[in-house]
Amino acid sequence: MKKLDTKRENLMGKIVSLCKRRGFIFPGSEIYGGLANSWDYGPLGVELKNNIKQLWWKRFVQNRDDVVGIDSALIMNPKVWEASGHLKNFSDALIECKNCHHRFRADSLTMDSGCYVCTDCDGREFAGAKDFNLMLKTFLGPSEDAANVVYFRPETAQGMFVDFKNVLDTSRKAIPFGVAQIGKAFRNEITPGNFIFRTREFEQMEIEYFIRKENWEEEFENWRKEMHNWMEKDLGLDRKHIHELEVPDDERAHYSKRTIDFEYDFPFGVNELYGLAYRTDFDLKNHYKEPPYKDPQTGEEFWPHVIEPTWGVDRSVLAVLTEAYNEEESRVVLKLNQKLTPYKVAVFPLLANKPELVKTAKGVYDSLKTRFMTAWDDRGNIGKRYYSQDEIGTPWCVTIDFESLEDEKVTVRDRDTMRQERVAIEGLAEYFKSKIK
Ligand code: GAP
Repeated sequence: MKKLDTKRENLMGKIVSLCKRRGFIFPGSEIYGGLANSWDYGPLGVELKNNIKQLWWKRFVQNRDDVVGIDSALIMNPKVWEASGHLKNFSDALIECKNCHHRFRADSLTMDSGCYVCTDCDGREFAGAKDFNLMLKTFLGPSEDAANVVYFRPETAQGMFVDFKNVLDTSRKAIPFGVAQIGKAFRNEITPGNFIFRTREFEQMEIEYFIRKENWEEEFENWRKEMHNWMEKDLGLDRKHIHELEVPDDERAHYSKRTIDFEYDFPFGVNELYGLAYRTDFDLKNHYKEPPYKDPQTGEEFWPHVIEPTWGVDRSVLAVLTEAYNEEESRVVLKLNQKLTPYKVAVFPLLANKPELVKTAKGVYDSLKTRFMTAWDDRGNIGKRYYSQDEIGTPWCVTIDFESLEDEKVTVRDRDTMRQERVAIEGLAEYFKSKIK
């Protein structure tokens, strides 16, 4: 992993601290000392995360004629994982430091003069690498015997393969078409870390796009462009911070004939944000005995092939926070895309102890809150309120002052330019609607 400069490394600490301080993300089970790098999304974090998921669903499911959604069970019949090859092949190489006995993913250690260095004790001797299966097990039902072992899904993808026939029979889609899903996935990662970057419980947004074999290269290119559009237009990531890595033959997942990783300049280094894989007919062939697809025109039966674009939700959150975090002379500001911000607008009465200001401001707040996520703040002075809203990325602040009582206009202050303008109360909702792009 390519390291970035120390300024960006400090950035991680600042993001983690802002997330905790402002209620984006907290350490999971904190009052009991936490649990192995698990994280909880707080009131602002859940809004940000939901906005990402909704934007994705709109772009890739609702706005397209060729993609439908599902929400499949998280715990599936164990035979699914046998057929998909995950029970046999879904593993990472694990090595153990001979000095402190800590275990690491072989690819997570740094090299010094040609040898691995233990990040915990600086030891340089390791026990040989062995494969460690990442499937997370539990038992279904009252007895904990082998017959009741089940697995939390390590990817949402298998739901789309197992439901393929049902979707086909009920949606009247014809190839090429995709099935999409957003949901939790679990992996018993050897070394989780870097905040929400690598956790054992995380969320994915995935599409299995079913095609004719001969079109795979063209469809792969289409999805590559789509993924760039998403990263740059919806998430607002700078193209310069995104890198494509052609994953070599010996590092690809067991099901893939070609994979590109989309990497991002995270504060701790360049690392995988999303993936795009050509899964061939590997999965459908393992789940179905007969070709599950019949061409509606020709009646020809065949095995569809699959292009799989996959997005991590939590890594999306970390990337947008990284991209948006700005320190300016007198403030910290999250320059998030307006569609992603937890709040769109914040409303303040100039003074909290003037009932006539509070009454008018409440009226403005009530009229906006049913149309946009709107915050109310009457604490401290205006400067502190601006500071507080900038830090969570709220694009516009509305202040009701004494003049408002006369001219029925308010001051709207823009997060990025800090410019202020007077806008009529009557036209406020339309004003914001036209600004949210
Ligand atoms: N169905 C294909 C698949 O699961 P993957 O590259 O293993 O492919 C897809 O995972 C995406 O899920 C990754 O690009 C990343 O965004 C996210 N992801 C994977 N493991 C993760 C983890 N332990 N913590 C957080 N996100 C993870």
